[in-house]
Amino acid sequence: MAGMTAKRHARTIFAGLTTPLMNHSPPFGAAHVLYDSPDHKCLSFSSLVKGDGVQANQFLIIHKGHAAVIDPGGDLTYTPLTIEISRHVNLKHLDYVIASHQDPDIIASMPRWLMHTSATIVASRLWARFLPHLASSFVTDRLAGDVSERLMELPDKGSNIPFGDTVIKAVPAHFLHSVGNFQFYDPVSRILFTGDMGASMTDDADSPVTDFDAHIPTMRGFHQRYMCSQRVIRLWAGMVREMDVQMIVPQHGRPFAGKAMVNCFLDWVCELECGIDLLTPLDYRCP
Ligand SMILES: [Fe+2]
Ligand SMILES: [Fe+2]
Repeated sequence: MAGMTAKRHARTIFAGLTTPLMNHSPPFGAAHVLYDSPDHKCLSFSSLVKGDGVQANQFLIIHKGHAAVIDPGGDLTYTPLTIEISRHVNLKHLDYVIASHQDPDIIASMPRWLMHTSATIVASRLWARFLPHLASSFVTDRLAGDVSERLMELPDKGSNIPFGDTVIKAVPAHFLHSVGNFQFYDPVSRILFTGDMGASMTDDADSPVTDFDAHIPTMRGFHQRYMCSQRVIRLWAGMVREMDVQMIVPQHGRPFAGKAMVNCFLDWVCELECGIDLLTPLDYRCP
């Protein structure tokens, strides 16, 4: 792992907004630089899942001494991710661990973040009563207060999460795919971190999509099965089109960089029948 990862140089993938960092050496390590300015950084980690788990990206936003992790994953990624994050910020100073939804590849590591950092866990209010089931009494007995005191519950309509002198916008994406689902918009980088929306199953999650048509087969099956309905997708896409989104960065696979590619994705996904659109009585027969 060390060989592959150490040799993978961080690089900027959105040259229009960022300082070029081609061929950058460690301390960036396994980080992939999505955005970089003196006061603000967005980093992606795409190579930390080993073994049978599905490829997943984890994200770190740093702003003037503040730091937030988005969709850190489970036990599988906790240790390598904290090693990587520690290259950039002191874990003790982490402000937030933010979860788009409740899945194992999103937030199963919550107990470890509770134990080893003072970060606030941010998630939909729909999951606030369920997430404490992840934390054993071994963990909760060692916390200063209740788990609920460490949770920030997001209301269905979303909210602005305070982040130093800026915010991280929690944007509603319910039923895409989880019933209580948020995406996170960084107004500085203008990146929308979309969780499972836009996910692709590919070996190369670092580089942005260049040939959209060739990329479709890596997304179609996942979106048809995991996303709930075309009607919801269109509601969501209408909201995103009103926003200033320069990059869509999903939690699996490759990002969509630049407005032209963002629009390619929105146009495609709006035409995709999925979830309940595709179900018939044949799908509900007792085996
Ligand atoms: Fe998910
Ligand atoms: Fe996922």
